[in-house]
Amino acid sequence: MTQPALSHDASPDLRSTFAAEVRAGLTHTPQKELPSKYLYDEVGSALFEVITVLPEYGVTRAEERLLAKHAAEIVEHLPHDVTVAELGSGSGRKTRRILEALCKKRPTSYCPIEISRSALQLCRRELGDIERISIVGYERDYLAGLAEVSKQRAADDRLLVLFLGSTIGNFGRLAATRFLREIRTMLAPGDALLLGTDLIKPTPVLVAAYDDSIGVTASFNLNLLARVNRELDGDFPLDAFEHVARFNPDARSIEMHLRAKRDLTAHVGAAQLTVSLRQGETIWTESSHKYRAEEMPAIADGAGFVCSHQWIEEEWGFAESLLVAR
Ligand code: TRP
Repeated sequence: MTQPALSHDASPDLRSTFAAEVRAGLTHTPQKELPSKYLYDEVGSALFEVITVLPEYGVTRAEERLLAKHAAEIVEHLPHDVTVAELGSGSGRKTRRILEALCKKRPTSYCPIEISRSALQLCRRELGDIERISIVGYERDYLAGLAEVSKQRAADDRLLVLFLGSTIGNFGRLAATRFLREIRTMLAPGDALLLGTDLIKPTPVLVAAYDDSIGVTASFNLNLLARVNRELDGDFPLDAFEHVARFNPDARSIEMHLRAKRDLTAHVGAAQLTVSLRQGETIWTESSHKYRAEEMPAIADGAGFVCSHQWIEEEWGFAESLLVAR
């Protein structure tokens, strides 16, 4: 029997935080920016689900293949008796394999942490039928959510943190290590982190993955401005922006921008902000850093973990690394 799903809802000041972060980003010089975590409202989450099935975006399918093939083996390498916390569950589809393998051994608590309420709902629907699972969603930022899960876990449970997809790539390299270190501060020795990373591949393949031929990724990116318009009383003319994805060889990242096709001025009521862009000027919305699998042991070490195992998907180029807190 599955237990009824509980949840811990967002605090009411999310909108004012959103407004403050939009204000900070759009007044940032020389490069205007918007925080990518706001890409995932109901519309954005639905568009991202479409991205994951686009022929050009191989990331999600590669990880699904990897987890389908190795879930049982991965679970063998985990501590016994784990509570599972997932940072950014999305729809939960690829997590199913791991959870099924765990629940086969014993009843397992699964705590998805998501700032997107619609993603939490999707994931509950997707995973609620797994035998012996109990799902408790946290509508929170990753670290705030993880702190709560860590506090509330059963006394003799280890924590398994799942950070799948290529979300770690959305941090800069230094910020990624800093973030892993912050995760580490909430863990005890022996707790584990399963970390997904998209691997470096030829530039045309990477660019196509973030600028697909039917424009879904473009819509996904533009929805960020549309969301500012909807939720923060903004008036960005969406038809005056275009999606740009380019490879930055120094950072080894794909950068996503929204480029103004003409000079324009817009207002964001809830942020008390007037912002002007010149023709060709961009708003940076996201970067996706690509890794080599061989980099992971040193990155893990710098953050207080040991990289104990890795599983590699060769066809697309994706790695799952198991990091154990030391
Ligand atoms: N974490 C995903 C990635 O970096 C998110 C993503 C996919 C994304 N396509 C995007 C983010 C386009 C912004 C724009 O692969």
